[in-house]
Amino acid sequence: MTTPTSPSILVTRATFPEVIARLRHSLDVADNPADNVWKPEELVARLQGKTGVMSTGTERIDAALLDACPQLRAVCNVGVGYNNVDVAACSARGIVVTNTPDVLTETTADFGFALLMATARRITEAERFVRRGEWTKTGIYDQFVGGDVYGTTLGILGMGRIGQAIARRGAVGFGMRVIYHNRSRLAPELEAGSQAQYVDKDTLLREADHLVLVLPYSPEAHHAIGAKELAAMKPTATLINIARGGIVDDAALAAALRTRKIAAAGLDVFEGEPRVHPELLEVPNIVITPHIGSASVQTRRAMAQLAADNLIAALGCGPNPGRPLTPVNPEVLAK
Ligand code: 8YV
Repeated sequence: MTTPTSPSILVTRATFPEVIARLRHSLDVADNPADNVWKPEELVARLQGKTGVMSTGTERIDAALLDACPQLRAVCNVGVGYNNVDVAACSARGIVVTNTPDVLTETTADFGFALLMATARRITEAERFVRRGEWTKTGIYDQFVGGDVYGTTLGILGMGRIGQAIARRGAVGFGMRVIYHNRSRLAPELEAGSQAQYVDKDTLLREADHLVLVLPYSPEAHHAIGAKELAAMKPTATLINIARGGIVDDAALAAALRTRKIAAAGLDVFEGEPRVHPELLEVPNIVITPHIGSASVQTRRAMAQLAADNLIAALGCGPNPGRPLTPVNPEVLAK
């Protein structure tokens, strides 16, 4: 149980009660059951005196925040991606940063595939048509005919754990030829396990019938898919983004969808989300979801639990004091 000397932490967003209870066993916890989204100044104010934070992709943990919160020792992010955290600035201050890999891989790959299929087969576009009361006859020629998934070429940009899990679904479940591009080519056994063939980015763009983006956001990945890349894709192709907003140039994508440079897009992430580029909302050939790639109850619980365990350990408590399970800057722990 906590004592007056237990480390104080902030949980920035609402989470599972059992996770808060677990944290409270070792730490002095301030939380946010109302799930308010705090402005940066409010976040800084609430972090005063806190040595740890369980953060999400919504909060920007940058050098200015760290300077204003000098007691902070651990930033434990709920999410495999951590581009909301300036890791170099944390490392320079001896602050450990953790993420939540592995526990979300299969769930997020399922979602990527769901978005691919909904996009290729125009499911939400067709649903809107039915809801508008426009289904007065059933056609066999041009009524919501889409593109095939089975037997087509699946392209994957970014071949980490989630990319590999999507590749397996495509190759094994849907008889797809799978091609991928990544900063570095996979080891032969991983490539064989994914049944995927490494190609350069130009080939990927040119040959994919369905292109799924699963790469982490970095300044180099900014607008990795813009007007030039969209023009290189097949006019029948779909583009699926479950990675991060900013990897796709949303204005260029809206133009490509409007002019049918590609057939359709499925997007779970957006530049400047939760705002969505107004032109994307105007085009019919798009499936839009609000960043829910990892959102199954089991997985969101596992992510929160892992972030909590990381925070407890990072602050020297629990069964693994000083040894968080999934640090992204482990060099800080060695010091
Ligand atoms: C998170 C995600 O839900 O894991 C990630 O990188 O994008 C999502 O699974 C989101 O980051 C909230 O923290």
